[in-house]
Amino acid sequence: MLKMIELPYPLNALEPYYSSQTLELHYKILYKGYVDNTNKTQEELKKAREQNDFSNIKCLEKNLSFFGSGIILHELFFENMGPAVPTEPDTKLMEQIIKDFGSYDAFKNQFTEASKAVEASRLVYFSMDSKVEQVRDFAM
Ligand SMILES: [Fe+2]
Repeated sequence: MLKMIELPYPLNALEPYYSSQTLELHYKILYKGYVDNTNKTQEELKKAREQNDFSNIKCLEKNLSFFGSGIILHELFFENMGPAVPTEPDTKLMEQIIKDFGSYDAFKNQFTEASKAVEASRLVYFSMDSKVEQVRDFAM
């Protein structure tokens, strides 16, 4: 059974950029819902295995993927945000960003524009793709 991670800072720690009400909504309602629904789906999958009844397997697997990705993305957000984040990447990451984007400003511009272009409550994050050793943007 999955459990929610502890929020590593108080609900008001990201203000004024992210209100305590918004963080509370994402942590206590949305993230909790993903955890609860993942556990519920895993119980339903266990029951399906025990009864050898996979008539609903497509829906269950789709739910597990959807709720599970909600957990991963919220934990990624919670664990990478905080009141004391550096204003610039460390030297190694900065070198990779300059290699992949040409400059830090070009990286920030792409991040800003990609963030503006995502729809509804989706998000954009940048991550190191270890297969090609490149910093890439991912719109979720
Ligand atoms: Fe959320």
